[in-house]
Amino acid sequence: MATLFLQTGRTRSIPLQATVTPTPDRLAPPTLPATPLQADYGAKEFWSRCLPCHGERGQGLTDEFRQTYPPEDQNCWMSGCHGARPYPDGWTIPTIVPPVIGPTSLIKFQNAQVLHDYICAAMPYQWPGTLADETCWQLTAYLTRQNGLWDGAGELNQTNAAQLAFLDPSATPASLPASTPTPTAAPTLVPAAAGESNPSVRIVIILAAAVLVLIFSLFFIRRGLSG
Ligand code: HEC
Repeated sequence: MATLFLQTGRTRSIPLQATVTPTPDRLAPPTLPATPLQADYGAKEFWSRCLPCHGERGQGLTDEFRQTYPPEDQNCWMSGCHGARPYPDGWTIPTIVPPVIGPTSLIKFQNAQVLHDYICAAMPYQWPGTLADETCWQLTAYLTRQNGLWDGAGELNQTNAAQLAFLDPSATPASLPASTPTPTAAPTLVPAAAGESNPSVRIVIILAAAVLVLIFSLFFIRRGLSG
């Protein structure tokens, strides 16, 4: 006991140094870098719109994450909160809010376009369909980059997102194609020279020539007979 007190006393007596780092506030808003990328904007959007349900690291509404809530709000499914009987104009949250960042998350989406479409149509859960398209792209860029599915360089949009496939989450982050793909040109139709390739055209020509020869010979035969 004595040693314990002694040690406590000694620990207390160590002067606080300027280098002591405060515990990082895990719920602090992300700061934008000097030249923000699409995914950096997405981080901000995620913080303000998605974090309360999906966690600050995209881990989902885990028990551990809910401990960051004030004690009275930690049980989201209590009557009068977001359970089966929510507060007036409130909404019910499913008991499982899935992770959106982590090894197995997003595996059900084939590519970034599908993820974008889902976010735009279904999230945030309580107000689906309210996000601006640009916000959906920023969130898609953020989630894709945080999951290591994309290197984050460039900008995701409807011309390239379908090419960013989510098939192999263990592969190194993919890059977008260097230039936006030009739609493949429709094959130019070169009209084939008459009779060159089409056998039926050849038959028609031969028949026409034969008919002409027949008409001419009939004509001359008649002239020969009458003359
Ligand atoms: C009110 C809580 C809530 C908020 C806020 C919310 N989500 Fe969700 N999210 C859910 C729930 C619940 C599901 C599961 C829905 C289901 O399975 O039908 C889900 C599912 C998802 C999924 C699919 C995950 C998977 O693998 O099934 C994505 C992606 C997603 N949310 C992204 C977002 C984004 C981005 C935002 C912010 C714009 C957001 N969510 C805000 C509750 C929320």
